Amino acid sequence: GPGTGPDAAPQPAAHGAFPTVRLRRNRSEPWTRRLVAETRLTPADLMWPLFLEDGTDVWREVPSMPGVHRLSIERAVDAVARARDLGIPVVALFPHVPSERKTADCAEAWNPDNLVCRAVREIKRQVPDIGLMCDVALDPYNALGHDGLVEDGRIPNDATIDALIRQARTLADAGCDIIGPSDMMDGRVGAIRRALDAAGHQDVKMMAYSAKYASAFYGPFRDAVGSGGFLAGDKKTYQMDPANTDEALREVGLDLQEGADMVMVKPGMPYLDVLRRVKDAHRVPTFAYQVSGEYAMMKAAVERGWLDNRQVVLESLLAFKRAGADGVLTYAAVEAAEWLREP
Ligand code: PBG
Repeated sequence: GPGTGPDAAPQPAAHGAFPTVRLRRNRSEPWTRRLVAETRLTPADLMWPLFLEDGTDVWREVPSMPGVHRLSIERAVDAVARARDLGIPVVALFPHVPSERKTADCAEAWNPDNLVCRAVREIKRQVPDIGLMCDVALDPYNALGHDGLVEDGRIPNDATIDALIRQARTLADAGCDIIGPSDMMDGRVGAIRRALDAAGHQDVKMMAYSAKYASAFYGPFRDAVGSGGFLAGDKKTYQMDPANTDEALREVGLDLQEGADMVMVKPGMPYLDVLRRVKDAHRVPTFAYQVSGEYAMMKAAVERGWLDNRQVVLESLLAFKRAGADGVLTYAAVEAAEWLREP
Protein backbone atom coordinates (compact mmCIF):
# COMPACT_ATOMS: atom_id res chain seq x y z
CA GLY A 1 0.00 0.00 0.00
CA PRO A 2 1.04 3.69 -0.05
CA GLY A 3 4.11 4.53 2.01
CA THR A 4 5.70 1.14 1.63
CA GLY A 5 8.02 -0.52 -0.89
CA PRO A 6 11.08 0.78 -2.82
CA ASP A 7 9.24 3.65 -4.71
CA ALA A 8 7.69 5.18 -1.62
CA ALA A 9 8.07 8.93 -1.04
CA PRO A 10 10.22 9.87 1.97
CA GLN A 11 8.16 10.10 5.08
CA PRO A 12 7.69 13.52 6.65
CA ALA A 13 9.21 13.91 10.06
CA ALA A 14 6.95 13.71 13.01
CA HIS A 15 6.79 17.52 13.25
CA GLY A 16 5.76 17.96 9.55
CA ALA A 17 7.55 18.64 6.22
CA PHE A 18 11.18 19.82 6.08
CA PRO A 19 11.73 23.08 4.15
CA THR A 20 12.81 22.63 0.53
CA VAL A 21 13.84 26.30 0.30
CA ARG A 22 16.66 26.89 2.76
CA LEU A 23 18.17 30.38 2.73
CA ARG A 24 20.83 29.16 5.12
CA ARG A 25 22.47 27.14 2.30
CA ASN A 26 23.95 30.30 0.79
CA ARG A 27 25.17 31.42 4.19
CA SER A 28 26.95 28.21 5.11
CA GLU A 29 30.57 29.06 4.23
CA PRO A 30 32.59 32.27 3.92
CA TRP A 31 33.07 31.70 0.17
CA THR A 32 29.37 31.35 -0.54
CA ARG A 33 28.57 34.40 1.56
CA ARG A 34 31.12 36.34 -0.48
CA LEU A 35 29.67 34.96 -3.71
CA VAL A 36 26.12 36.13 -3.05
CA ALA A 37 26.90 39.46 -1.37
CA GLU A 38 24.87 42.24 -3.03
CA THR A 39 26.80 45.16 -1.55
CA ARG A 40 30.51 45.70 -1.28
CA LEU A 41 32.52 48.28 0.60
CA THR A 42 35.93 49.29 -0.73
CA PRO A 43 38.40 52.07 0.16
CA ALA A 44 37.17 53.89 -2.98
CA ASP A 45 33.85 54.46 -1.17
CA LEU A 46 35.44 56.45 1.63
CA MET A 47 36.00 60.17 2.10
CA TRP A 48 38.07 61.20 5.11
CA PRO A 49 37.30 64.44 7.00
CA LEU A 50 40.48 65.85 8.55
CA PHE A 51 40.85 68.68 11.09
CA LEU A 52 43.62 71.25 10.76
CA GLU A 53 45.22 73.40 13.45
CA ASP A 54 47.82 76.11 12.94
CA GLY A 55 51.31 75.51 14.30
CA THR A 56 54.14 73.05 13.84
CA ASP A 57 54.08 69.41 14.82
CA VAL A 58 50.53 69.54 16.15
CA TRP A 59 48.83 66.16 16.73
CA ARG A 60 46.06 66.94 19.21
CA GLU A 61 43.31 64.45 19.93
CA VAL A 62 39.73 65.75 19.88
CA PRO A 63 38.46 64.67 23.32
CA SER A 64 34.97 63.69 22.16
CA MET A 65 36.31 61.85 19.09
CA PRO A 66 38.77 59.12 20.19
CA GLY A 67 41.31 58.45 17.44
CA VAL A 68 40.64 61.78 15.66
CA HIS A 69 43.34 64.45 15.82
CA ARG A 70 43.76 68.04 14.78
CA LEU A 71 46.91 68.21 12.68
CA SER A 72 49.25 70.96 11.64
CA ILE A 73 49.87 71.24 7.91
CA GLU A 74 53.05 69.17 7.67
CA ARG A 75 51.45 66.40 9.76
CA ALA A 76 48.34 66.62 7.59
CA VAL A 77 50.45 66.13 4.47
CA ASP A 78 51.76 62.83 5.87
CA ALA A 79 48.28 61.74 6.92
CA VAL A 80 46.86 62.53 3.49
CA ALA A 81 49.69 60.64 1.78
CA ARG A 82 48.80 57.63 3.88
CA ALA A 83 45.11 57.95 2.98
CA ARG A 84 46.12 58.11 -0.68
CA ASP A 85 48.26 54.96 -0.26
CA LEU A 86 45.25 53.17 1.25
CA GLY A 87 43.10 54.00 -1.79
CA ILE A 88 40.94 56.70 -0.23
CA PRO A 89 39.99 59.03 -3.10
CA VAL A 90 39.12 62.24 -1.22
CA VAL A 91 40.04 64.04 1.97
CA ALA A 92 37.79 66.83 3.33
CA LEU A 93 39.61 69.61 5.19
CA PHE A 94 38.19 71.47 8.21
CA PRO A 95 40.04 74.24 10.06
CA HIS A 96 40.22 74.89 13.78
CA VAL A 97 40.13 78.67 13.94
CA PRO A 98 41.34 80.54 17.03
CA SER A 99 38.83 82.99 18.50
CA GLU A 100 40.82 86.07 17.47
CA ARG A 101 40.25 85.12 13.82
CA LYS A 102 36.48 84.91 14.26
CA THR A 103 34.65 88.11 13.35
CA ALA A 104 31.16 89.31 12.43
CA ASP A 105 32.06 89.71 8.74
CA CYS A 106 33.86 86.30 8.65
CA ALA A 107 36.62 87.80 6.47
CA GLU A 108 39.09 85.06 7.39
CA ALA A 109 36.94 82.76 5.21
CA TRP A 110 38.27 84.46 2.05
CA ASN A 111 41.78 85.19 3.24
CA PRO A 112 43.92 83.41 0.62
CA ASP A 113 46.45 82.67 3.35
CA ASN A 114 44.02 81.14 5.81
CA LEU A 115 44.79 77.72 7.26
CA VAL A 116 42.70 75.75 4.78
CA CYS A 117 44.12 77.51 1.73
CA ARG A 118 47.70 77.02 2.92
CA ALA A 119 46.96 73.34 3.60
CA VAL A 120 45.35 72.89 0.17
CA ARG A 121 48.38 74.35 -1.60
CA GLU A 122 50.85 72.28 0.42
CA ILE A 123 48.93 69.01 0.04
CA LYS A 124 48.43 69.59 -3.68
CA ARG A 125 52.18 70.18 -4.02
CA GLN A 126 53.21 67.05 -2.10
CA VAL A 127 50.28 64.65 -2.65
CA PRO A 128 48.78 65.66 -5.99
CA ASP A 129 46.96 62.39 -6.65
CA ILE A 130 44.15 62.65 -4.10
CA GLY A 131 41.01 64.80 -4.23
CA LEU A 132 40.58 67.67 -1.78
CA MET A 133 37.17 68.83 -0.65
CA CYS A 134 36.57 72.00 1.39
CA ASP A 135 33.47 73.13 3.24
CA VAL A 136 31.86 76.36 2.20
CA ALA A 137 30.10 77.82 5.24
CA LEU A 138 31.07 80.62 7.59
CA ASP A 139 30.86 78.83 10.95
CA PRO A 140 34.59 78.36 11.63
CA TYR A 141 35.15 82.08 11.03
CA ASN A 142 31.99 83.51 12.56
CA ALA A 143 32.18 85.06 16.03
CA LEU A 144 28.62 83.81 16.55
CA GLY A 145 29.27 80.30 15.23
CA HIS A 146 26.64 80.42 12.47
CA ASP A 147 27.07 79.15 8.91
CA GLY A 148 25.78 82.49 7.62
CA LEU A 149 26.19 86.13 8.50
CA VAL A 150 24.18 87.33 11.48
CA GLU A 151 22.20 90.58 11.35
CA ASP A 152 19.97 91.50 14.28
CA GLY A 153 19.93 87.89 15.41
CA ARG A 154 18.84 86.59 11.99
CA ILE A 155 20.74 84.86 9.22
CA PRO A 156 20.26 86.89 6.00
CA ASN A 157 20.17 84.49 3.03
CA ASP A 158 21.35 86.61 0.12
CA ALA A 159 24.01 88.64 1.94
CA THR A 160 25.40 85.33 3.16
CA ILE A 161 25.59 84.05 -0.42
CA ASP A 162 27.87 86.95 -1.36
CA ALA A 163 30.23 85.90 1.44
CA LEU A 164 30.04 82.21 0.44
CA ILE A 165 30.93 83.11 -3.15
CA ARG A 166 34.08 84.86 -1.96
CA GLN A 167 34.97 81.88 0.22
CA ALA A 168 34.38 79.36 -2.59
CA ARG A 169 36.39 81.36 -5.12
CA THR A 170 39.29 81.65 -2.67
CA LEU A 171 39.28 77.89 -2.04
CA ALA A 172 39.15 77.11 -5.76
CA ASP A 173 42.02 79.54 -6.40
CA ALA A 174 44.06 77.66 -3.76
CA GLY A 175 43.50 74.39 -5.65
CA CYS A 176 40.50 72.80 -3.94
CA ASP A 177 38.95 70.11 -6.18
CA ILE A 178 35.49 69.84 -4.63
CA ILE A 179 33.56 72.72 -3.11
CA GLY A 180 31.16 71.49 -0.43
CA PRO A 181 28.54 74.11 0.43
CA SER A 182 27.34 73.03 3.88
CA ASP A 183 25.49 76.21 4.84
CA MET A 184 21.94 75.46 3.57
CA MET A 185 21.23 78.97 2.23
CA ASP A 186 18.67 78.96 -0.61
CA GLY A 187 20.21 79.38 -4.05
CA ARG A 188 23.82 79.15 -2.99
CA VAL A 189 24.77 76.24 -5.23
CA GLY A 190 23.80 78.10 -8.40
CA ALA A 191 25.38 81.34 -7.26
CA ILE A 192 28.66 79.61 -6.37
CA ARG A 193 28.61 77.64 -9.65
CA ARG A 194 28.27 80.84 -11.70
CA ALA A 195 31.02 82.55 -9.70
CA LEU A 196 33.38 79.59 -10.11
CA ASP A 197 32.73 79.42 -13.84
CA ALA A 198 33.26 83.16 -14.25
CA ALA A 199 36.60 82.82 -12.46
CA GLY A 200 37.79 80.06 -14.81
CA HIS A 201 37.06 77.20 -12.39
CA GLN A 202 34.65 75.29 -14.66
CA ASP A 203 36.23 71.97 -13.65
CA VAL A 204 35.99 72.50 -9.91
CA LYS A 205 33.32 70.12 -8.69
CA MET A 206 30.56 70.73 -6.19
CA MET A 207 29.27 68.26 -3.65
CA ALA A 208 26.26 69.96 -2.11
CA TYR A 209 25.31 69.27 1.46
CA SER A 210 21.76 69.15 0.10
CA ALA A 211 19.75 67.39 2.78
CA LYS A 212 21.49 68.69 5.85
CA TYR A 213 19.46 68.45 9.01
CA ALA A 214 19.50 70.59 12.16
CA SER A 215 20.92 67.69 14.13
CA ALA A 216 22.14 67.10 17.65
CA PHE A 217 24.78 64.73 16.23
CA TYR A 218 27.20 67.54 15.23
CA GLY A 219 28.33 68.34 18.79
CA PRO A 220 31.82 66.77 18.70
CA PHE A 221 32.57 68.42 15.32
CA ARG A 222 31.85 71.81 16.80
CA ASP A 223 34.39 71.00 19.56
CA ALA A 224 36.90 69.89 16.93
CA VAL A 225 36.72 73.12 14.93
CA GLY A 226 36.22 75.27 18.01
CA SER A 227 32.84 76.70 16.98
CA GLY A 228 30.56 75.03 19.53
CA GLY A 229 31.15 77.38 22.44
CA PHE A 230 30.45 80.34 20.17
CA LEU A 231 27.17 79.25 18.64
CA ALA A 232 24.40 81.69 19.43
CA GLY A 233 21.13 79.76 19.43
CA ASP A 234 20.65 76.94 16.93
CA LYS A 235 20.68 76.40 13.16
CA LYS A 236 17.01 75.51 12.72
CA THR A 237 16.17 78.47 10.46
CA TYR A 238 18.44 77.12 7.73
CA GLN A 239 19.19 73.44 8.39
CA MET A 240 16.33 70.98 7.79
CA ASP A 241 13.78 69.76 10.29
CA PRO A 242 14.48 66.09 11.16
CA ALA A 243 10.76 65.45 10.68
CA ASN A 244 10.90 65.93 6.88
CA THR A 245 11.86 63.80 3.87
CA ASP A 246 9.78 65.18 0.96
CA GLU A 247 11.63 68.42 1.58
CA ALA A 248 14.96 66.59 1.24
CA LEU A 249 13.94 65.53 -2.28
CA ARG A 250 13.16 69.16 -3.14
CA GLU A 251 16.49 70.34 -1.72
CA VAL A 252 18.37 67.75 -3.76
CA GLY A 253 16.37 68.55 -6.90
CA LEU A 254 17.13 72.27 -6.60
CA ASP A 255 20.84 71.72 -5.97
CA LEU A 256 21.02 69.50 -9.07
CA GLN A 257 19.23 72.12 -11.18
CA GLU A 258 21.70 74.68 -9.86
CA GLY A 259 24.65 72.60 -11.00
CA ALA A 260 25.63 70.31 -8.11
CA ASP A 261 27.72 67.37 -9.36
CA MET A 262 27.17 65.25 -6.27
CA VAL A 263 24.73 65.50 -3.38
CA MET A 264 24.90 64.56 0.26
CA VAL A 265 22.60 63.50 3.06
CA LYS A 266 23.71 64.40 6.58
CA PRO A 267 23.75 63.00 9.27
CA GLY A 268 24.11 59.42 8.16
CA MET A 269 22.85 56.42 10.08
CA PRO A 270 19.71 58.02 11.56
CA TYR A 271 18.82 59.22 8.02
CA LEU A 272 19.24 56.07 5.89
CA ASP A 273 15.59 56.38 4.85
CA VAL A 274 16.34 59.83 3.39
CA LEU A 275 19.40 58.47 1.62
CA ARG A 276 17.38 55.68 0.00
CA ARG A 277 14.65 58.06 -1.14
CA VAL A 278 17.15 60.54 -2.57
CA LYS A 279 19.00 57.82 -4.50
CA ASP A 280 15.79 56.30 -5.86
CA ALA A 281 14.30 59.65 -6.85
CA HIS A 282 17.33 61.30 -8.43
CA ARG A 283 19.79 58.56 -9.48
CA VAL A 284 22.84 60.82 -9.12
CA PRO A 285 26.11 60.43 -7.22
CA THR A 286 24.84 60.47 -3.65
CA PHE A 287 26.90 60.56 -0.48
CA ALA A 288 26.24 60.22 3.22
CA TYR A 289 28.10 61.88 6.06
CA GLN A 290 28.59 59.67 9.11
CA VAL A 291 28.93 62.66 11.39
CA SER A 292 30.95 63.31 14.51
CA GLY A 293 28.23 62.30 16.96
CA GLU A 294 27.70 58.97 15.22
CA TYR A 295 31.44 58.33 15.35
CA ALA A 296 31.56 59.36 19.03
CA MET A 297 28.71 56.98 19.92
CA MET A 298 30.43 54.02 18.32
CA LYS A 299 33.80 54.80 19.86
CA ALA A 300 32.36 55.43 23.33
CA ALA A 301 30.77 51.97 23.28
CA VAL A 302 33.97 50.44 21.86
CA GLU A 303 36.05 52.03 24.65
CA ARG A 304 33.77 50.42 27.21
CA GLY A 305 34.07 47.06 25.54
CA TRP A 306 30.37 47.08 24.62
CA LEU A 307 30.87 46.95 20.85
CA ASP A 308 33.58 45.46 18.64
CA ASN A 309 35.37 48.31 16.87
CA ARG A 310 36.09 46.70 13.54
CA GLN A 311 32.80 44.89 13.18
CA VAL A 312 30.60 47.80 14.16
CA VAL A 313 32.46 50.36 12.02
CA LEU A 314 32.47 48.17 8.91
CA GLU A 315 28.81 47.20 9.38
CA SER A 316 27.81 50.85 9.74
CA LEU A 317 29.67 51.77 6.54
CA LEU A 318 28.25 48.83 4.59
CA ALA A 319 24.77 49.97 5.65
CA PHE A 320 25.31 53.26 3.81
CA LYS A 321 26.19 51.43 0.61
CA ARG A 322 23.17 49.17 0.97
CA ALA A 323 20.92 52.20 1.47
CA GLY A 324 22.10 53.70 -1.82
CA ALA A 325 25.21 55.74 -1.05
CA ASP A 326 27.96 55.92 -3.65
CA GLY A 327 30.35 56.90 -0.88
CA VAL A 328 30.58 57.86 2.77
CA LEU A 329 32.34 60.65 4.63
CA THR A 330 33.60 59.04 7.80
CA TYR A 331 36.16 59.79 10.49
CA ALA A 332 36.87 56.05 10.48
CA ALA A 333 37.98 56.11 6.81
CA VAL A 334 41.64 55.30 7.47
CA GLU A 335 41.10 52.42 9.88
CA ALA A 336 38.31 51.06 7.66
CA ALA A 337 40.53 51.23 4.57
CA GLU A 338 43.22 49.31 6.46
CA TRP A 339 40.76 46.59 7.43
CA LEU A 340 39.37 46.39 3.91
CA ARG A 341 42.86 45.82 2.54
CA GLU A 342 43.41 42.72 4.65
CA PRO A 343 42.67 39.47 2.83
C1 PBG B 1 29.61 73.33 9.15
C2 PBG B 1 29.64 71.85 9.21
C3 PBG B 1 29.17 71.06 10.26
C4 PBG B 1 29.52 69.76 9.95
C5 PBG B 1 30.15 69.78 8.71
N1 PBG B 1 30.20 71.08 8.26
C6 PBG B 1 28.54 71.40 11.57
C7 PBG B 1 27.31 72.18 11.60
O1 PBG B 1 26.59 72.31 10.62
O2 PBG B 1 27.05 72.71 12.68
C8 PBG B 1 29.25 68.59 10.86
C9 PBG B 1 30.11 67.42 10.69
C10 PBG B 1 30.10 66.47 11.83
O3 PBG B 1 29.36 66.60 12.82
O4 PBG B 1 30.86 65.52 11.73
N2 PBG B 1 28.67 73.89 8.36
